[in-house]
Amino acid sequence: CTALLLGIAVYLLITYLTRKPAGSPPGPRGLPVVGSLLQLSRTNPLVTLTELGEKYGPIFSMYFGPRFAVVLNSYELIKEAFLTQGEMFSGRAHPFIIKTLMSDKKGTIHGILESEGAHWKEQRKFALTGLRDFGMGKMSMEGKILEEVEVFLHEIKNQAGRAFNYHHLFGNAVSNVICNIVFGSRFEYDHADFKELLELLNANIRQAANTEILNYLPWIRFFPGAGREQYLGFRTRFDKLISWAKQRVAEHEKSFDRDNIRDFVDLYMKQIDDMADNKNTTFTIDEAPYIIINLFAAGTETTATTLRWGLLYMTHYPHVARKVQEEIDAVIGRGRLPSIKDKPNMPYTEATILELQRLSNVVPLAIPHATQKKGTLAGYEIPNGTMVLPNLYAVHMDPKRFPDPDVMKPERFLDENGKLTNTERLIPFSIGWRVCLGEMLAKMELFLFFTAILQNFDVLPPEGDKLVPLTPIIGLTCSPVSHSTRLVLRA
Ligand code: HEM
Repeated sequence: CTALLLGIAVYLLITYLTRKPAGSPPGPRGLPVVGSLLQLSRTNPLVTLTELGEKYGPIFSMYFGPRFAVVLNSYELIKEAFLTQGEMFSGRAHPFIIKTLMSDKKGTIHGILESEGAHWKEQRKFALTGLRDFGMGKMSMEGKILEEVEVFLHEIKNQAGRAFNYHHLFGNAVSNVICNIVFGSRFEYDHADFKELLELLNANIRQAANTEILNYLPWIRFFPGAGREQYLGFRTRFDKLISWAKQRVAEHEKSFDRDNIRDFVDLYMKQIDDMADNKNTTFTIDEAPYIIINLFAAGTETTATTLRWGLLYMTHYPHVARKVQEEIDAVIGRGRLPSIKDKPNMPYTEATILELQRLSNVVPLAIPHATQKKGTLAGYEIPNGTMVLPNLYAVHMDPKRFPDPDVMKPERFLDENGKLTNTERLIPFSIGWRVCLGEMLAKMELFLFFTAILQNFDVLPPEGDKLVPLTPIIGLTCSPVSHSTRLVLRA
């Protein structure tokens, strides 16, 4: 009888601790304290979330540790939330690590990625205009990318024909594009400052998956061996990144001339100057390093990983690579670098890049959003502060919209006249108020790098016809396993 009573008491306690807010979407209850984290850690979390969507419907709720979250598994609901009700869903979830890194002693969250409200709006608007109006300086954005493409091709030629892991080379190239935009010039790959930046960024990306659990159960860092060292390492490196950016801003300050704006940092300093009399301004010399590091953090790994997937997919689908090369030969030829102006004349290449983004799902759950007030979605009550995860992976792998979703078929984005079609449900950059700030830059980079590589090289597996599997590693991004490729100069 005592055991029975104890059993009932435990059952009631668990039910109480795992209860969901009234009227909220259905979903797994999970366990007290950890929520559904164990369920997600056991398998491929993207597949688990997608299967839960099939069971509970396109919107369901669950706990990440103690954090209440809703997952949106359909394009329609993501659109409804992020576009139609954009303001309500435009907050950020501020997982523990991100919050501690991005906030100052007063609790203000800096930068664009994690800030909210007026601070975020001001900084985002400025950065968007800064990137878009990149007519400043001697070269356009396209020119800056092509400068890097040329160096990249030269580096590949040094490795041509050998099995080589292009991971770092892609990282160098796309970070250098951001350097060129932000600081007005590129670095040599062996420049000490550039190497320091890349080492800090790469180490934090490698470590991110190991510290993910601390985002939802931060207290476990106080237990020995439970990630404290990794967390402290992460922090130290992030502080060094901010100091690195501060130093570059200080160097710029010395030669700043508001009548001769050379780059993004100059533009930012002019903005600080212009807003100096506004006591509520968020443009300060302390804010600048966060914006700079945000651009590197968000723009490097994402683009480089998509390009790495690009090479791997081409080894699996040589007939697609051949068709892209035929189009390149017909439209560009071999005598010059590709240009963005070629893109409208190259629908098959464009469809291949779109298909690559659909399959690779590099940022599969976007960056966690949060609601800024309570409201309703699809008839369910969504409390203020709910974490919201758009399952971009589920949208891209929906067999009703994309039959044989695991198979690379660029043709699915082409109509009978060979024109692009069916692209609305392709949202690798997310949509709405928080849509990727670097979408335009990333699309240019993907087109110019991918096209230039296939213009010059055949992409082959590392050894004979032994293919590297396409199984993703799910960390901060969805990346391919570490692998080599042989790039052989085309005949
Ligand atoms: C945010 C994807 C490249 C800067 C995001 C988000 C996604 C994304 C899914 C989250 C949107 C959301 O929360 O709803 C990608 C992909 C890229 C890429 C797939 C490359 C293939 C870049 C580049 C930059 C950049 C090159 C800039 C240099 C940002 C920033 C945000 C962001 C600053 C935060 C926006 C905000 O919170 O308002 N990106 N991105 N991204 N991205 Fe990208």
